[in-house]
Amino acid sequence: MIPFGDLRAEFGEIGPEIHGAVNRVLESGWFVLGEEVRAFEEEFSSFVGVNHAVGVGNGTDAIQLALQALGVGAGDEVITAANTCVPTLTGICATGAVPRLVDVTADTLVMDYGSLEKAITDRTKAIVPVHLYGHPCPMSSIMAIAGNKNLVVVEDCAQAHGATLGGKQCGTFGHTAAFSFYPSKNLGAYGDGGAVVTSDQAVADKVTSLRNYGQTERYYHDDPGVNSRLDEIQAAILRTKLPYLKKWNERRRELASRYTEGLKNTPLTIPVEEPGAESSWHLYVVRTSNRDGLQQHLKDKGIGTVLHYPVPIHLQKAFAAMGYVKGDFPASEQACDEVLSLPLYPYMPEEHVDTVVKAIREFFG
Ligand SMILES: Cc1ncc(COP(=O)(O)O)c(C=O)c1O
Repeated sequence: MIPFGDLRAEFGEIGPEIHGAVNRVLESGWFVLGEEVRAFEEEFSSFVGVNHAVGVGNGTDAIQLALQALGVGAGDEVITAANTCVPTLTGICATGAVPRLVDVTADTLVMDYGSLEKAITDRTKAIVPVHLYGHPCPMSSIMAIAGNKNLVVVEDCAQAHGATLGGKQCGTFGHTAAFSFYPSKNLGAYGDGGAVVTSDQAVADKVTSLRNYGQTERYYHDDPGVNSRLDEIQAAILRTKLPYLKKWNERRRELASRYTEGLKNTPLTIPVEEPGAESSWHLYVVRTSNRDGLQQHLKDKGIGTVLHYPVPIHLQKAFAAMGYVKGDFPASEQACDEVLSLPLYPYMPEEHVDTVVKAIREFFG
């Protein structure tokens, strides 16, 4: 059996440290918005290279609160990519804004900035580029378009902890960025968690208030806000794991290179990095027109794979009201028919990569 992912091996290495961190919180008697969250916010903002991080309940809320803090709300339009996962849209819709979509490029499967300008209307207020699978979006082009049109940008970094572009981390390009710490992410909590990062003090202050029922000082509220706080136990766990992130990302990169080497000269389309871009290798996503056959073959061999994602956003029932139809975003539609994510996690043994490669080669004969 080769699982798609496995967090137990990680716990095998860092378990004693985690127990120590959790006990520290239990013994402190303080569980919400305390010293652990404050320290994690400081450590994570310095890791990303921005002035502020604000811990929130999850990555979806991080997108919502980042947009709201930038003034996005009902009546506005927010543009994102048709090839993303639903929570990007959930976060946008929660602000009351209307999501609009653009297609992705056929090679990296992230937002095609060439289509971006055409999607901008008088009501467009924000762009949410998604660094999908960990591959950075073309941020200098996106920021240039945003600058010309006076739009704000929230990077969706849920899959891109530690990914870089021109040596700068994802999360430092937009006006703000949203991170998820869902357990399977490159930096994952042992439960839900998220953060908004920004170098803008006013935006950080706004998110800090919004996450806590819009409170500015105790029992004084400027906005109804929401309840979306990173809790002390998750913050303590994230503080324990953050120092390992670089090493874990390097390990993901090594395993990804091993796949790339092993899968050369097969009919698969293998993932590429644009010049100057370093993926966080959150996912290793191959493509083939016989995706379902390959997935079944790997399943028969006990190898777990996942589809990220089987249905493009514009064809999800939930978003039918946007009025898009099949054919509107051909690259995203083709991606959804062809993508297959192979097992990849930092503690995956190299031999498992070799076994997956062998099974794929067998499939193609
Ligand atoms: C690209 C992307 N955006 C947003 C989210 C939402 O994060 P969360 O599950 O923490 O709400 C996720 C994770 O599921 C994601 O992968």
